[in-house]
Amino acid sequence: MRITVIGTGYLGVTHAACMAELGFEVLGLDIDPVRVASLSEGLLPFHEPGLPELLRKHVKSGRLRFTTSYQEVGAWGDVHFIGVGTPQRAGEGAADMSFVDAATISLARNITKDSLIVGKSTVPVGTTRRLKTLVRDNKRPGVSVNLAWNPEFLREGFAVVDTLTPDRLVVGVESPEDEAILRKVYAKALADGVPLITTDFETAELVKVAANAFLATKISFINAFSEVTEAVGGDIRTLADAIGLDVRIGRRFLNAGIGFGGGCLPKDIRALQARAAELGLDRSMRFLDEMDQINLRRRERAVDLARVMLGSLSQSRIAILGVTFKPNSDDVRDSPALDIANKLFDEGAEVTVYDPAGNVNASRRSPQHHYVTSMGDAVKNADLILLLTEWDEFKTLTPEGLAAQTGTRKIIDGRNILEARVWEDSGWSLGSIGRRY
Ligand code: UGA
Repeated sequence: MRITVIGTGYLGVTHAACMAELGFEVLGLDIDPVRVASLSEGLLPFHEPGLPELLRKHVKSGRLRFTTSYQEVGAWGDVHFIGVGTPQRAGEGAADMSFVDAATISLARNITKDSLIVGKSTVPVGTTRRLKTLVRDNKRPGVSVNLAWNPEFLREGFAVVDTLTPDRLVVGVESPEDEAILRKVYAKALADGVPLITTDFETAELVKVAANAFLATKISFINAFSEVTEAVGGDIRTLADAIGLDVRIGRRFLNAGIGFGGGCLPKDIRALQARAAELGLDRSMRFLDEMDQINLRRRERAVDLARVMLGSLSQSRIAILGVTFKPNSDDVRDSPALDIANKLFDEGAEVTVYDPAGNVNASRRSPQHHYVTSMGDAVKNADLILLLTEWDEFKTLTPEGLAAQTGTRKIIDGRNILEARVWEDSGWSLGSIGRRY
């Protein structure tokens, strides 16, 4: 079975490399020739632990190749995975489906043998059925092209592990034959006991958006309580630990802080609301608007704290530690940390940023800040330090260690990773999310 993967972003490259790791011959396609050239040399254009090694290994073995040609892909592959992006449409909540539609049409026009197209992108419910019509109208006569939906649940920073050993596999199919093909693709995971949910197109599409909506809700839930503990006193971490011990609730994704960002959760909850509104179901998903607002308010809280701790932001010197939307990633899409840096700058602060992997991407989006390559350089002249992404090197910070590198004794812990009492006992003034200041 020959596998192709359309789109070589996060999802696509990871899927392609993992399919090669499972022993398949894989051809990845991207319309960007620069990306294809770099991937063909085994060079990954983004940061993802474990993926560069996998990519290099399989490019070298010849099991993994990349192309810009739909003709090549259509003539070569048996199973075609679509992993192109569905970004938020400018100025709207809805997903931009133009990349998925274009990929489907190009594939359908170029497929020359009986094949299965498997969508992996996060899409509004109803997409697979709509794409089925596009395939029917564009495919060559005499060739059978079926569709399936197989959402991806990988997390950045754990993309390889999540792809090779997922919590579950979900496939939306219309025939047992198509399910059988996907069972072959995922034979290794299934043999290892990974559960497979076989369902219809709509449920498969909805499982993905429901999972992300739930995760976003869980984070915003604890962050709503962090607003309460800030007002009345109390400790948000202890609260999360205590409710998290109830196995029905669970402790994961209950870390209060500056909130969720990235290329998925924020846009997915907005796209879900937009789709629900189209379906006349806006009331059903209206709570997600509140989750979005709670999330965005946490960024304001960090800025408010900075203003309070400094008296005025104008002409203050601020060090930002961590600018990616989460650790182990160089992704700054909708990063709460970068948004906070920008807001501080807009209020007159001079901002110096240090991130172990995100400086390059952040400086492209927000060139107004100073970017430095060490924590020491970031903090040395700062009036206030904001720790905004919980990279390992920040988790091990000590009050004495940091004090040796800077004159300030003011820090904001945007991710609740520092022991507040220890820092305060050492003479630091510490502001955090979910604690009264
Ligand atoms: C998310 C989902 O977790 C994946 O399952 C999904 O496949 C992916 O989106 C996607 O749709 O492609 P990801 O965006 O990589 O994955 O990041 P998460 O680990 O979910 O973190 C999202 C944001 O929530 C980060 O900004 C993180 O800092 C924040 N977060 C997470 C919190 O603020 N508190 C928490 O307790 C957990």
